[in-house]
Amino acid sequence: MSNTKKTGGLAGVVAGESAICTVGTGHGLNYRGYDIYDLANNAIFEEVAYLLIFGELPTQKELSDYKKKLSNERDLSDTLKTILENIPKNAHPMDVMRTASSALGCIEPENEDFSNQNEILIKLLGKFSSMLLYWYHFHFHNEKINTSSEQDTIAGFFLEKLHNKPPKKEHIDCMNVSLILYAEHEFNASTFSARISASTLSDMYSNIISGICALRGPLHGGANEAAFRLVSLYKNADEARVGILDKLKNKDKIMGFGHRVYTTKDPRNVVIKKYAKELSTTKEFENFFQISEMIEKVMWDEKKIFPNLDFYSASSYHFMGIPTDFFTPLFIISRTAGWGAHIIEQRANNKLIRPSSTYIGVDNREFIPMEKRI
Ligand code: COA
Repeated sequence: MSNTKKTGGLAGVVAGESAICTVGTGHGLNYRGYDIYDLANNAIFEEVAYLLIFGELPTQKELSDYKKKLSNERDLSDTLKTILENIPKNAHPMDVMRTASSALGCIEPENEDFSNQNEILIKLLGKFSSMLLYWYHFHFHNEKINTSSEQDTIAGFFLEKLHNKPPKKEHIDCMNVSLILYAEHEFNASTFSARISASTLSDMYSNIISGICALRGPLHGGANEAAFRLVSLYKNADEARVGILDKLKNKDKIMGFGHRVYTTKDPRNVVIKKYAKELSTTKEFENFFQISEMIEKVMWDEKKIFPNLDFYSASSYHFMGIPTDFFTPLFIISRTAGWGAHIIEQRANNKLIRPSSTYIGVDNREFIPMEKRI
C-alpha cells in the first residue's frame, strides 16, 4: 500500500516548525504562548495582530502608533477606486478582495528586498475594509463612500462603513472577538498556501493572495457562509432535526462542523457561541439560534461531531446585519495577521517547500505518432 493513502490530505504530517501558534491536544490554542481565552477576553484585534506579527504584546504607545498607522491606510487612491468600480456587481466579495489586493500590489508593490514587508501588511489590514465596502456601496447603493471615521479599530470601522451609522458597542465587541478568534490557526490550508508561496521568495501580496485563494472554499473559510445557508434552510428546530438527519443519511457534509485537528471540540466555539446568543435579541434571531443549537445537538448525538468556529460565527455575523457573502472576506481581514506572521517567519529561515508524490500513473509507454492515434 502506498504512503499517500495513510497521509491523505497530509493529515498528521508535521510540515515544519513555527513559533506562532499551538493548536489541538497537549497545548490548547495559544498565539505566541498566550491563551486564546485571555486574548479574546482582554485584547483588541489590533493588539493581537501586533502580537502575531512582531512576536510580543505591544505597549500602550506601540499599540496606539500601530492603530494610527492602520487608520492612516484606510484611504483608497483614485486608481484603486476606478478598479473597484469596474469589478462587476455580481462578483463574489471574495473575488473582490482577491482582485483588489492584486491591484494594490500593482500600484504600491513590495520592495524587492522585502524591507517594507511590515508596511505592506499594515496597508492590507488598513485597506481591506475600505476596498470591500467601497465596491459594495458603489454597486448596491450608487454611493462613493469616503473613509473618514471616528472609529479607531478595524471592527468599529468595518461596521460603521457597512451600515453607514455608528455601530452598537456590543456589535463592535463581538466583531473584535471574532477577528481575534479567526486571526491565526497554525498550518491550516490557507496559511500553508501562503507559506508555500513565500518559500519561493515571492512578494507579500502574492503570498497573501495565495492564502485568500485557499480560504475561499467551503471546506475552509467558505464554511461560515455555507453554515449560514444551511441554518437558513429550516423554519424551526423540529424541521432542522429532521432535515439534518436526512442529510446525514445521504452522507452529506454539514458545514461548520468537524475539524482536522480537534477531536472533541473547537475551543473557539464556546466564545463565539456566547456572543451569538447574546446578540439573538429578536424573535427571529432567537429562532435562528434555536435551530443552530438543534443542529449542534443532532450532530453530536448522531456523529459525535462538534461545531467549529465557523458555525456560530455565521449566526453572530447575521445578527449584526452583515451580508452572508461578507463572512469569508471578514475572515481574510483577520487571518491576514496570521498569514503575515507566517510569511515573515518563513522568510526568516527559508527553504523552498517542495514535497514529492508517489507516482501511480502508467509506466514506459511508446510514443504514438499523430496519424496512428484513434
Ligand atoms: N459533516 C458530516 N460528516 C463529517 C463532517 C461534517 N461536517 N466532518 C467530518 N465528517 C465525517 C466524514 O464524513 C468522515 O466520515 P467517514 O469516516 O464515515 O467517511 C469523517 O467524519 C472524517 O471526515 P473527513 O472529512 O475525512 O476529515 P478531515 O479531517 O479531512 O476533514 C473538515 C476536516 C473540516 C474538512 C471536515 O470536518 C469538513 O468537511 N467539515 C465541514 C466544512 C467546515 O466546516 N470547514 C471548516 C473547518 S474549520
